[in-house]
Amino acid sequence: MDQADATRRHAELSRQLHHHSYCYHTLDRPEISDADYDRLFNELIDLETEHPSLAGEDSPSHRVGAAPLEKFEAVRHSLPMPSLSNRRSEKEFREFDAQIKRFLNLPDESVVDYTCEMKLDGVAVELIYRDGLLVDGATRGDGNTGERILNNLKTIAAVPLRLIEPCPPRLEVRGEVYIESAEFQRWNTELEENGKKTFANPRNAAAGSLRQLDSRTTAKRPLNIFCYGIGQLEADLPVGHNELLQQLQQWGLRVNLGETRLAHGVSEVLACFHDLLQRRDDLPFEIDGMVVKVNRLDWQQELGSVSRRPRWATAFKFPPRQARTRLEQVLLQVGRTGAITPVACLAPVEISGVTVSRASLHNWDEIERLDVRVGDTVLVERAGDVIPDIVGVAPEERHGTEEPITLPESCPECGSPISRLDGEVVPRCQGLACPAQLKESIKHFASRKAMDIDGLGDRYVDQLLTLNRVNSVADLYRLSRDDLFLFERMGEKLADKLLQAIAASKERPLPRLLFGLGIRHVGEHLAKLLARQFGSLEALKQASHDELLALHEVGPQVAESVVAFFADARNGEILDQLAAAGVAPPPEEKRAGGPLSGLTFVFTGTLPSLGRKEGQEIVEHLGGRAAGSVSKKTAYVVAGEDAGSKLEKARQLGLTILDETGFRELIASKEQE
Ligand code: IVH
Repeated sequence: MDQADATRRHAELSRQLHHHSYCYHTLDRPEISDADYDRLFNELIDLETEHPSLAGEDSPSHRVGAAPLEKFEAVRHSLPMPSLSNRRSEKEFREFDAQIKRFLNLPDESVVDYTCEMKLDGVAVELIYRDGLLVDGATRGDGNTGERILNNLKTIAAVPLRLIEPCPPRLEVRGEVYIESAEFQRWNTELEENGKKTFANPRNAAAGSLRQLDSRTTAKRPLNIFCYGIGQLEADLPVGHNELLQQLQQWGLRVNLGETRLAHGVSEVLACFHDLLQRRDDLPFEIDGMVVKVNRLDWQQELGSVSRRPRWATAFKFPPRQARTRLEQVLLQVGRTGAITPVACLAPVEISGVTVSRASLHNWDEIERLDVRVGDTVLVERAGDVIPDIVGVAPEERHGTEEPITLPESCPECGSPISRLDGEVVPRCQGLACPAQLKESIKHFASRKAMDIDGLGDRYVDQLLTLNRVNSVADLYRLSRDDLFLFERMGEKLADKLLQAIAASKERPLPRLLFGLGIRHVGEHLAKLLARQFGSLEALKQASHDELLALHEVGPQVAESVVAFFADARNGEILDQLAAAGVAPPPEEKRAGGPLSGLTFVFTGTLPSLGRKEGQEIVEHLGGRAAGSVSKKTAYVVAGEDAGSKLEKARQLGLTILDETGFRELIASKEQE
């Protein structure tokens, strides 16, 4: 085919594919079979392989992903992406309605029209279209600055790469990326079967999928989107939010119109809410409430925002899901540092489709506060996600045989004494050779943020210990194929993959190794700081208490813990073994100085042109520290519009407060020093 024919055919195929994708994913009304769609798609890919210049920005071929990125770039939203205030009861919703009428000077008895939408529990994103073409896409981030995830968003079939004409010159549209519950379950089961880490809930799974640097991975995830609002729009606005949603759908965007209601006043909103609450468990996706928006767009404008939340909208949240069941037993878990945590074992009970048999009791003070006993009927709450909590006890159901939960004197795993050290609230096993601590320390060492040994999940770590194949993290590097063949269901391929992953971890950078070693009080951030300040493990080993303490962020507790870690003979042996096995992080570039070294900055409020993230990056790049809260140690507070309590605190403490210009001037002068 010559170039002209190829161009014509490519345009026709693109048009057809966009149309059928829209019918299938956005309208839920397919016009052709999947096989026919695949045939068109494959023809397009073949054409683009032969004529690569045809693969324009809106080619349907982008759905399969693009080459991986090194990192995500920061994107400043041209209008902030606020979050919503919450209302949790009828009374609170009535107050919301009353506030709106007061603000708009409407009589008490007037009736406001509201749009009621489902509040999907996913990840908020922004899509930017210029002349109909999708040109950018970002996460919400902190509301002002998000991350550019355009390639990943392009893989979502329901995200149009080009809008349907006539479309506006510029449109910023906002929506929620989510995963349907059934897809989530299917995928999680698959992960579990492959010994991979599973996700706690669909929201985490969606967020994890969007944060892939390789969009070809995102393309394989069952992501979907519903659009619910706009940022900037260069077009005439309709009168109502409901009409705006319809307009978005006409442009080809996926909107949950079938489940959006226009409610006339409070009573209709409440009816909608109760109806939704009833149907909550029958929906194909997780929702955690209803979003109620003043329908008239001019009123939305007039109402504006207060402390970065719109006055014209609110999240009417569902009550947390609860169930009653029997507390059968309390297990004591021993963590990596010996901390003993109580875990409740429950008679299995279903809370909204998930069978719960474990719950957190948090700590020993909580047990005392609740006066919870083994054998009690307890109230369990699953607040949308993660580990359920025990929130109460039904004392009226007691028979007198319930047993109080007491802290034993010795570790259930190794029999060593348990004690609370000075100033610590958490009881700890004091055993140096406690197998439970070993297990947790290996899991931590191999974890994603530490040495990132892909595939070495809980199941394998358990087996390594049961088979007595490891006594320390260093032993991981001595494992052979034969050792791994002792595992259940371990084939040659999997064994080699695991050995490769272990070998690959030998070159992880120093901060990861330091974090992975599990030195008490040294989290990810401090591990980075120590690596940067000392440059090598050798240098850190030699560091004295005073040298450590001289670092801005290191207090006596951390200094003591680092010195004690390296002074311990057993740790010394493990470090030697690691080095002998070839675990050799490349030396870190030392960045002891920097013009802002030793200075802490806090950013608050909205600055005219500088994003908070950008400001923080400048500070860190110049050797300073950007902190989240104000204290006596803060050198400068950089404050913009709508700065709240942090600014107030800074004033009380008499700290130096800068605006954006002041900040820029300070940086310029420091850089010249
Ligand atoms: S409107 C100014 N509508 O809830 C309006 N948000 O805390 C801002 N969400 O970050 C949001 N479904 O991720 C809106 N129908 C919906 C929504 C929705 C889910 C999420 C969104 C936002 C959070 C609000």
